[in-house]
Amino acid sequence: MLEFIDTHCHIIPGVDDGPPDMDTSLAMARMAMADGITDIVATPHIVEGYYDGSDREQRLAQLRKIFTSAGIDLRLSAGAEVPMSACLAGDKTFLKSLAINGGKFLLMETAETTFDQVAQAAYRVRLCGLYPILAHPERAAFVQKRPGRLDEILERDQIYCQLTAASIEGVFGKTIKKTSLILAKSGMIHLVASDAHSTGKRAPLLSACYKILVEELGEAAARTIMLQNPLRVLESSKLERPALDTGDILDRGHFLKLFRRKPSSDDAI
Ligand SMILES: [Fe+2]
Repeated sequence: MLEFIDTHCHIIPGVDDGPPDMDTSLAMARMAMADGITDIVATPHIVEGYYDGSDREQRLAQLRKIFTSAGIDLRLSAGAEVPMSACLAGDKTFLKSLAINGGKFLLMETAETTFDQVAQAAYRVRLCGLYPILAHPERAAFVQKRPGRLDEILERDQIYCQLTAASIEGVFGKTIKKTSLILAKSGMIHLVASDAHSTGKRAPLLSACYKILVEELGEAAARTIMLQNPLRVLESSKLERPALDTGDILDRGHFLKLFRRKPSSDDAI
């Protein structure tokens, strides 16, 4: 069985719209283990005036104790899902306190915004000595409209992209699934995570997505995205762009061109 690291999961009870109580956290942990997940980065939403994440280590220590006494063998690390507004504010001490596993990656929530705002937020994060990981870009309308534009800012602004596993499985509808495939097949996805909130529709599961990626991109790319890069996030080492094995489909530039269209006046840029 493959062993996965889930770099985006709302597993801490009672801090955000994730599990409301410890029983739900335990059920999520058991589900994750059964799917091959060995490590979870706890990424609660940071919301100004409501939750600043400063007590995450204490909460995780309590969670580890309860998991251990329940026979659950999962490693837990601290992270956070940081709103773009906090990234734009650029408070270095605050943002560094929210980096994944105390390292150099910061999980940035993809708001319904514009490419320019994302680039600006990424720039602020980079000024703090951190690298932004964009959470679920496939769900944002500005990406769905012009996925090729995302490719332009990824390397220029040193942004990494994290797809939600359920998106590519079609759990959130056809548009999000289609965008997920475009991004993945164009080499724009560095990571996949569950972004789990419960044991329901948004569950801590990764193995089904791995199978899809093997079929769509080839095994080497699936391993980079779902096994190697998540470990690099924990270890704070450089993420790799997946080498795609799309057979005789198309090369990446050609594939992207198919989905590029002329911008219209209603495009947010
Ligand atoms: Fe999330």
